Amino acid sequence: MAILVTGGAGYIGSHTCIELLLAGYEIIVLDNFSNSKPESLNRVKEISGKDFGFYEVDLLNRSGLEDVFANNTIEAVIHFAGLKAVGESLSIPLHYYHNNITGTLILCDVMKKYGVKNLVFSSSATVYGIPERVPISEDFPLSATNPYGRTKLMIEEILRDLYIADDSWSVALLRYFNPIGAHESGRIGEDPNGIPNNLMPFITQVAVGKRRELQVFGCDYPTVDGSGVRDYIHVVDLALGHLKALERVISSNGVDAFNLGTGTGYSVLEIVTVFEKIANVRIPYKIVKQRPGDVAVSYADPSKAKNELGWTAKRGIEEMCRDSWRWQEKNLNGYETSISRIEININYKE
Ligand code: NAD
Ligand code: UD1
Repeated sequence: MAILVTGGAGYIGSHTCIELLLAGYEIIVLDNFSNSKPESLNRVKEISGKDFGFYEVDLLNRSGLEDVFANNTIEAVIHFAGLKAVGESLSIPLHYYHNNITGTLILCDVMKKYGVKNLVFSSSATVYGIPERVPISEDFPLSATNPYGRTKLMIEEILRDLYIADDSWSVALLRYFNPIGAHESGRIGEDPNGIPNNLMPFITQVAVGKRRELQVFGCDYPTVDGSGVRDYIHVVDLALGHLKALERVISSNGVDAFNLGTGTGYSVLEIVTVFEKIANVRIPYKIVKQRPGDVAVSYADPSKAKNELGWTAKRGIEEMCRDSWRWQEKNLNGYETSISRIEININYKE
């Protein structure tokens, strides 16, 4: 019996594949490489010392997906595959709706056909929209402020309807807060295309001299220092949360949402300070106006995942910064090794 990991070549998927393999699961990975590289899977094999099946298939290709189910005995699916850039989703909403929602509909339909009804889905804290207060618990009202967020919200609803229609389904909706960090080997990590949208990859690219300075989006929020506060979670802790959710969906039926966060918030400027200390690198920054759509403060109440899944995040902010830095420093151009370190101007602190 195997676990199918859709989007397993991506950032969170590749880290989860390692933890699954190390825990003794047989896995099958499916990806279309629209936002990842085959090299990430080579490194998953290298780190875990284990082999696994791989299919280069787009979820929108129903017959390709059916082949995966016809040729393997699949017990459960962990569904990471999706597009995730908020800004891009505003420019090409139909592409986002089609890829994320139609892709999930086809996946669920094929799962149903093959009698596979255990699913762990990558949702996001974005489904809380602009929360009224913190910490955010799973029963807070849900809303979305952009097409990307709406795809997550709609898929959550679709999966709830699926369970209402057939209570033999078992679904975990995992609402991630802000994943950062990388595997401690420094061999896999986040490899964004083009200019990073998210804070940590931007900081690490400034640190290695690929970007001149960080723009801090707003210093007038009602927070400790005026910059935005988020619940950063180490990607390996997040990956381990999937193993707990997997145990749950395999052993019981139902549909349930879980926050995967640490419960602690850090401001942008606090992250910059910790990163500078850990990496011994200066991060030049400029304060600019708030990014539209950003909330001042977001952090999880992670107690439901603790009580019901037996999961808590263990890795602290220093470890997150250290591992993000190690990955970036060892892989200046992500999974493409064409840029040599010599060509890069590193901003080491005096
Ligand atoms: P990622 O882009 O690194 O990984 C997603 C993977 O899915 C990529 O390898 C991509 O090639 C693949 N993919 C996309 N569409 C596909 C399709 N139609 N068919 C087959 N493969 C397809 O992203 P990630 O950061 O690893 O995120 C994984 C999931 O978690 C996504 O669904 C994302 O929306 C969600 N999520 C991510 C974050 C975050 O900050 N990284 C936060 C909340 C939720
Ligand atoms: C963003 C997405 C959210 C998604 C999440 C994880 C937006 C509006 N929201 O959330 O939907 O679920 O990523 O992928 O894009 N910051 C800077 N300078 C930068 C980048 C970020 O100051 O160059 C600040 C932000 O204002 C924020 C914090 O850093 O306060 C974290 O930002 P980011 O990493 O983009 O995550 P979120 O905004 O939480």
